[in-house]
Amino acid sequence: MANATAIILAAGEGTRMKSNHAKVAHEILGKPMVCWVADAAIAGGCTRIVLVVGSHADEVRAIVGAAYGERADVSVECVEQTERLGTGHAVRCALEATGVDAGPVVVLNGDLPLARPETIRRFVESVADGVTAASILTITAPDPTGYGRIELDAGGNVIRNIEQKDCTPEQLETLHELNAGCYAFDGAKLAAHIGEIGHDNAQGEYYLPDMIEILRSHGDRVAVVHVNDYTEGLGVNSRSELARATRIARDRINDRLMAEGVTFIDPTQAWIGPDCTIGRDTVVWPQTFLIGDTHVGEDCQLGPQTRLTNVRAGDGCVIDETVAIDAVLENAVDCGPRAYLRPGTHMLDGSKAGTHVEIKKSTIGEGSKVPHLSYIGDTTMGSGVNIGAGSITCNYDGVHKHKTVIGDGVFVGSDTMMVAPAEIGDGALVAAGSVITKPVPADALGVGRARQTNIEGWAHKHREALKAQK
Ligand code: UD1
Ligand code: CA
Repeated sequence: MANATAIILAAGEGTRMKSNHAKVAHEILGKPMVCWVADAAIAGGCTRIVLVVGSHADEVRAIVGAAYGERADVSVECVEQTERLGTGHAVRCALEATGVDAGPVVVLNGDLPLARPETIRRFVESVADGVTAASILTITAPDPTGYGRIELDAGGNVIRNIEQKDCTPEQLETLHELNAGCYAFDGAKLAAHIGEIGHDNAQGEYYLPDMIEILRSHGDRVAVVHVNDYTEGLGVNSRSELARATRIARDRINDRLMAEGVTFIDPTQAWIGPDCTIGRDTVVWPQTFLIGDTHVGEDCQLGPQTRLTNVRAGDGCVIDETVAIDAVLENAVDCGPRAYLRPGTHMLDGSKAGTHVEIKKSTIGEGSKVPHLSYIGDTTMGSGVNIGAGSITCNYDGVHKHKTVIGDGVFVGSDTMMVAPAEIGDGALVAAGSVITKPVPADALGVGRARQTNIEGWAHKHREALKAQK
């Protein structure tokens, strides 16, 4: 398909969100709304994405820069619409700033997160025939409030769009075909006629959907593409519409994953981001969140009460009541309940981070176990290590962070403080309750605690003395 451009309209104030942020910055399953739209356009075959920004422009630019700045396969640029004079004006700004005047041009409202890539592709193709000047996506929804109404003739051909505020009561009653806010244009025709949109309407704005009538007045063909699944055309203008879009996106994703062989105890209680993957026979327990670039292998148990952000987990892991961020878990790793794995945690095969365990920027070697009540930070741990309950790497001196190196097969007794920089050699044993301030050589016993003394009969004498005082 010839270089399709997508123009995404994201300059609006989003007044109905009652937010201090751009409407399109609000997230659905951990991904900003604008990226849902841009990703669908890219997956639908658009190679150049032009975002019209205005309200909270810096915030939107930053989101777009972070998401697409490094991508080589697609060009994503922002164009500023300094005055918000309507969707028609926004598109005109985009065309003027970029000089786009040919090829298929898809225009998408920035608040249309659920449009499917297949639909956008169908759209792009619809104007590539050299005959159709524009296509407009329509839906019939249970609640038509806020949508432009599409007037059709007896043969089902489109006549024009009438915004809700410009409709007569009779039009509101009889017109059921709704404008979804997704259009495809022949770029040359769009550029030639965009200047003809006026603003003589209830809102005094330049309405993009007026292009339908304008193109038709020039004898050009305009097609209506109706999608049966109206959720594709749901616009997000308010918080409750945002929550509804989240619900619909969640159900779509969980249905797909179930079809691929993932078990959900309750698919309404798991929120899996659109770019996450889960392998077959993994079981997802309630209150599980997978966010960002998170990938989980086969035969795992996820949750309950688990949040994984940018985590890669292999096969056969048990991740119970765990929060993990920017972490890698290899195969058969056992986490939680109540583990906190912070950025830079790398758990090798068969390792364990148990109950009330926090790990940061550390490698936990094969089969090594940190089962209870511990903090491990800035540590390289070998294989087959056992860390006793309540042991801590004291990695911070108030100014600097220091490293701990623990060799293979080390046994650390309970309640040990490893004051970093710390080094415990292969096969060493550290006595419970130690404060380790010096390196422990391989195969040595490290003891760093006061020696125990017993005073025979002391307790008995003490009790007798207390009784005598009564
Ligand atoms: C728009 C359509 C309506 C359609 C509905 C679908 C117009 C005039 N109306 O209405 O027919 O049924 O979407 O959801 O197009 N924007 C700009 N610059 C502007 C104005 C808006 O970039 O000057 C952006 C907004 O950020 C938003 C999008 O355009 O992402 C649509 O604007 P919005 O105000 O939400 O239009 P609706 O009233 O929903
Ligand atoms: Ca809208």
